[in-house]
Amino acid sequence: MKTEIINELTHENLDKVKKEIASDNLVIFPTETVYGIGANALSEEAVSKIFEVKERARNNPLIVHLKNKDEIRKYAFIQNPIEQKLIDTFMPGPLTIILEKKDIIPALVTASLSSVGLRVPSNKIAHAFLEYVDTPIAAPSANISSRPSGTKVSDIKNEFQGLLKYIIDGGESDIGLESTVVKVINHIPTILRPGFVTKEDIIEVVGCCNVSPHVLKEVDENTKVESPGMLYRHYAPKTKCLLIYSSDKEKLKEEVKNNLTYKTIILGSTDLEDINSYKFINYGNTLEDISHNLFSLLRLADKYNGDLIIIEGVKKEGLGLAIMNRLIRTSNFNYIEL
Ligand code: TXA
Ligand code: MG
Repeated sequence: MKTEIINELTHENLDKVKKEIASDNLVIFPTETVYGIGANALSEEAVSKIFEVKERARNNPLIVHLKNKDEIRKYAFIQNPIEQKLIDTFMPGPLTIILEKKDIIPALVTASLSSVGLRVPSNKIAHAFLEYVDTPIAAPSANISSRPSGTKVSDIKNEFQGLLKYIIDGGESDIGLESTVVKVINHIPTILRPGFVTKEDIIEVVGCCNVSPHVLKEVDENTKVESPGMLYRHYAPKTKCLLIYSSDKEKLKEEVKNNLTYKTIILGSTDLEDINSYKFINYGNTLEDISHNLFSLLRLADKYNGDLIIIEGVKKEGLGLAIMNRLIRTSNFNYIEL
């Protein structure tokens, strides 16, 4: 099978992807967060292909993407005003809400949980795709499991070459990190995976918001987690990584220097630019830039064949919490905070 990259959503191309989805096959499509690898969420056969191609554990549930928020009630129950408020405020956009599911959603999608994650992307191409195929689309991030999520087609086209027919190219993902996953637990919105919609944003509209303690902690298969995705190694290049954070820039630089190896690649802000290492990669100087660039630069860093990637951490506030949640996993909990 040859993989075709679709650059424009003409009627002809929309017909092609619609047919592909109707035949229970996979299509990669852009969203504002990261690229998704999608299949008809109402077909077990289609959904099982996602798990195969992505080499994903079947006990890790998928997010279902909908063309608009009015569709939510077809697939899940909105059980309280807080859930309604989150939907009204943050959808369409980079938020996934976990709701009690209706029977129409197959057990394979939710890994047999009674809840389902629903998301309405705001990206125009994602919206056009969802509207045209006219079925809910189950889609995890487009990457082979444990690798960094795909945020541009050039990063992932080799990974998926020959495994599916169509990749819709929408340029670089705006945000670059996956959606915020939130579940209302005992009337309090609880963030299971931080993202562009922050704890602070949710507090502003609902008045309260918890963050699951597992977001920044190491967990193993015996930990009772709210979201199975927390259990897996994620976002990881093949090269060993070390994450270092200090709010004191001098201390940070000192610690980076102390950990340099023969072939260290530094991935960080311009603060670390003049350290004498094998390679320096600038990930940006604002949280938005770091979020946008991170996954693609982790893939790039891997290509230099260093023996260590030292990554500069950020403050765990606002969007910084999402960045640190990913980086702590990227570095496999190899983390120094000073
Ligand atoms: O931005 C995104 O969310 C992207 C784009 C493509 O929409 N998708 C994405 O999907 O990141 P994925 O499969 O890589 O991550 C889904 C996360 C996993 O951590 C999973 O465990 C959690 O959502 N999840 C899904 N359904 C759940 C449920 N019913 N209860 C708890 N966690 C759930
Ligand atoms: Mg993923």
